[in-house]
Amino acid sequence: RMKLWLDTDPGVDDALALALILARPEFELLGVSTVFGNASVEQTTANALRLLTLFGRPELPVHAGAARPLVGEPRFAAAVHGNDGMSGCTAQLPEPAGAAHPVSAVEALLAASHAHAGALHLVAVGPFTNLALALRQDPSLPQRVASLTLMGAAFGGHGYTGNVTPCAEANVHNDPRAAAEVLAAPWARCRVIGLDATQRTRIPIHRLAPLAEGNATQRLLWAASQPYAGYYATRDGENALVAHDATAVAALLAPEAFTWRTGPIRVVEGGLAHGQTVQDWQHLASATDSEWQGLPPHAVATDTDAETLTLLCLQA
Ligand code: BDR
Ligand code: CA
Repeated sequence: RMKLWLDTDPGVDDALALALILARPEFELLGVSTVFGNASVEQTTANALRLLTLFGRPELPVHAGAARPLVGEPRFAAAVHGNDGMSGCTAQLPEPAGAAHPVSAVEALLAASHAHAGALHLVAVGPFTNLALALRQDPSLPQRVASLTLMGAAFGGHGYTGNVTPCAEANVHNDPRAAAEVLAAPWARCRVIGLDATQRTRIPIHRLAPLAEGNATQRLLWAASQPYAGYYATRDGENALVAHDATAVAALLAPEAFTWRTGPIRVVEGGLAHGQTVQDWQHLASATDSEWQGLPPHAVATDTDAETLTLLCLQA
C-alpha cells in the first residue's frame, strides 16, 4: 500500500479527494496537514477534523499549517466553497472527535518523511505554503519522498489558463512564491495535475444523485456538491462537480488515464499574470536561459480520460 500524506484546504473537492483516499485499498493515509485557501486555516482544520470523524477515521492526525502565503495576504474562496469552505454544510457534519494535533504541519510532514523515508507519497491539493516552509527548513526533504502529486497550475490545455484570474489557478495564485519554491526542488517524481486535466473531470450532478440515498459520507458529498456545482454552472454552463483535488488522487491510482508532458516549470509573480505557470516542455529556454537552468523537469497532466476519472471519483 502507498503511504500517503495529504496537505489540503477543505474544500468541497478536497472532501471528495479525502473520501477517495480512504475508500481505496491502495492507500494508507498517515496524516493530514491543513493550509489556508478555500477558507481560513482555522476553518479548513476544523473541516478536516469533522470530515475524518464523519468518514469513520477520527484517529488520523490533523496538523494545522500556514494561515497565510509566504508573500502577501490570504484570500479565501467563499464564492466557490461557501463561507465555511463546505458549501454551508458544516452543520451537517459531526462535531470533531478530537482537536488538531499539537505538532505543526511542517514538523509533522518532515517527521513522516524520516519515519517513512523513500516510501512516502505526498499529495498537496491546497496552496503549497506548508511544502515550501518544509523545504526551507529541510532542503533534503525531496530525497526522502517517493512521489509528490500537486493539484494546481494551468497551462492552457483545452483553453484552461486560470480559474481565479484569466492567467492563474487558485492554489498557485494563493501563494505563487511557495509554488515556485516547490517546483524548483529536486523531487524524484513530481506530477502536476492542473486545470488542463481537472476541468475535464466534471461529474454531471445527475450522476451524483444516487448519493442522496447513500450512507452519511455520500449524503454529505451530495449536499456539499449542490452549491459547488451551481457555482460552476453559472461560470461554465454545466451543472457538474468539477473534481479538481480527487483528480490528483486519481493520478496516483491510474497515471495511464492521463496524458503527460515533461519539462521545468516557472511561476509568474506580480502584474497581470500573477500566479501564471509556464512549462518549457519543448526545452526552448532551459538550455540557454539562466533563469531556467537547473530547474528540474516535472510531469504535467495535459489531458485525462474523463470517463475513467469520473468512475474513479464516484468510488469515493
Ligand atoms: C483548487 O482550488 C481550490 O478551490 C480547490 O479545492 C482546488 O484545490 C482548484 O483550482
Ligand atoms: Ca483544495
